[in-house]
Amino acid sequence: MKSILRIVSDARELWPLYVGIIVGAVLTTATTLLMPFLIAEATQVVVDMATGKRAASAMPLVWLAVWLLVVMVVNSLVTNVTGYWGDIMSMRVRRILSHNYFDKLLRLPQRWYDAQLTGSIISKLDRSIHTVVQFLQVFANSFFTTILTVVVVLVVAGLHSPWLALLLVVIYPTFVWLTAITSRRWQVWEKEKNEHFDVAGGRFAEVVSQLRVVKSFTTERSELEHFDRHYDEAVALTATQSRFWHFMDVARRGALDVVFFGIYLIIFVATAKGSFTVGSMVLLIQLIQIAKAPVTSMSYYVDTMQRAITGSTEYYKVMDVEEEPLHPLTEGAAAIEWSDGDTVVAFDDVSFGYDEDQLVLEDINLSIRRGERVAFVGESGGGKSTLVNLVMKLYSPTSGQVRVLGHDVTTVPTAALRRQVGVVFQDASLFSGTIRENLHYGDPTADDDALREALRRSNALGFVDQLPDGLDTQIGERGVKLSGGQKQRIAVARAMLKDAPILILDEATSALDTKAERQVQAGLEELMEGRTALIIAHRLSTISAVDRIVTLRNGTIDEVGSPAELAQTNGIYAQLLALQASDSAAGRKILKRFGLIA
Ligand SMILES: Nc1ncnc2c1ncn2[C@@H]1O[C@H](COP(=O)(O)OP(=O)(O)O)[C@@H](O)[C@H]1O
Ligand SMILES: [Mg+2]
Repeated sequence: MKSILRIVSDARELWPLYVGIIVGAVLTTATTLLMPFLIAEATQVVVDMATGKRAASAMPLVWLAVWLLVVMVVNSLVTNVTGYWGDIMSMRVRRILSHNYFDKLLRLPQRWYDAQLTGSIISKLDRSIHTVVQFLQVFANSFFTTILTVVVVLVVAGLHSPWLALLLVVIYPTFVWLTAITSRRWQVWEKEKNEHFDVAGGRFAEVVSQLRVVKSFTTERSELEHFDRHYDEAVALTATQSRFWHFMDVARRGALDVVFFGIYLIIFVATAKGSFTVGSMVLLIQLIQIAKAPVTSMSYYVDTMQRAITGSTEYYKVMDVEEEPLHPLTEGAAAIEWSDGDTVVAFDDVSFGYDEDQLVLEDINLSIRRGERVAFVGESGGGKSTLVNLVMKLYSPTSGQVRVLGHDVTTVPTAALRRQVGVVFQDASLFSGTIRENLHYGDPTADDDALREALRRSNALGFVDQLPDGLDTQIGERGVKLSGGQKQRIAVARAMLKDAPILILDEATSALDTKAERQVQAGLEELMEGRTALIIAHRLSTISAVDRIVTLRNGTIDEVGSPAELAQTNGIYAQLLALQASDSAAGRKILKRFGLIA
């Protein structure tokens, strides 16, 4: 319940709509309740005329009909205006909740994402919002009208017969209570079903985004079976859940029917005995009919509320995850005094583990000078990517300090830090849209001349100019319409436009064949010009010209030196060089372990 109040408070700017909808709902109910009174009055007039208590004349009845018309027209108008406000309210609540959720997701640390399935993140959002919006709509439309209806019916019934009122009074709480206990068990199944939807949906999204892999391994059947299994479970759960619900509903309504039986009995007998007039009987029967609706809608109301509680709890579970500190969305583009000293990146006694008990990096001490090119070599899984991720502050060190241009990275606003660091990943990571849009990711203000210059330097202008639409070419989701080498050269151009003084190349060419690699390598050389570069190499040949090589062994630095120096020490680098020259089968196996051949 607390979580629902939080949602109402998050969307408090919509209060005029809430008030409007509530007033509208009350007016709708009031007009609905007026009709039985008019009809009862008309009935009584007719009875009185028939029994001679009143002179026969059409006029009073015509007037009553006119009043009925007025009430009905007002009712339709108010219903529709309220319906319009309801649509606007739910859309705006949806907008607010979705905005807050996306905003929150953008602030969450990489570590959180490591444990999530993209599809589940999306399906959870959809579900939470749907249940909450539905609840707010039901609440605004029916809560106050139910109260009003119940009060009017109780008062009128009480004026006619206290027994009637008493019977009506017990119905509501009993029915709500019966619904609540049913709904609680129902929710347990619902939650289980949602888990199945999340697993199936999460996998679904993953499969669709990597369909090439599925196709190549022809795992379509097993993926489909996995998907079906979860939906079959959901179907089975629904059967149990629905059987229970409807069984309970029969019981609930059975009890209700017995109570209504008593009510009708009282009305019929009292009228026959002359205690009620015919007009009163018509009035009461209509009111009871109206009073029946809130009883059933109350059960819907309780049910919707419990779903919304589950939905909003899921929502706030995400909303309450701790955010990345100093996040760009919070800090904005704070200006930082970067040191212009000689040391650009420094690791001071840095240790890091993804899990507390298992360190991936231990006691790393290293300082990288301005304009230097440093390559990292080590077994695959040896922590090279982890090391450069610490520079970008994707993760924070478990102990020790990573300093960039004189600042401890954990203390500077993230946006300011990341503007200093350009990255080219192994996977080009482009977005759908045009080549121009992708390049603007690096610098939104660059004009076409600047874009073409970057493409030229990254060795990409040739092929872009040959595309029929040039810069306006749509490249498809993640750039699927381009070859690996083309994508990578666009990514290099994008990094050039970002123009950051520090550059990270994490196996930037490893996804490419030798020819494409040579084309991209030329672009990378241009990109590294005048920058400090941290390079994780995929082929030894690509790092033969760096200033220093750092070799990693068991999460610690093993050797540091120029390629020429390390070629002599008989360390990891020297051994790898020798292996590469010998080209033996055993040697290839070791090179593979170091990620140095495909
Ligand atoms: N997001 C992550 N969560 C948990 N463990 C990870 C994560 N990323 C990498 N690791 C682990 O950390 C170690 C180092 O990985 P990584 O830095 O990617 O190695 P490299 O880039 O040298 O191949 C590996 O044992 C890997 O399993
Ligand atoms: Mg890596």
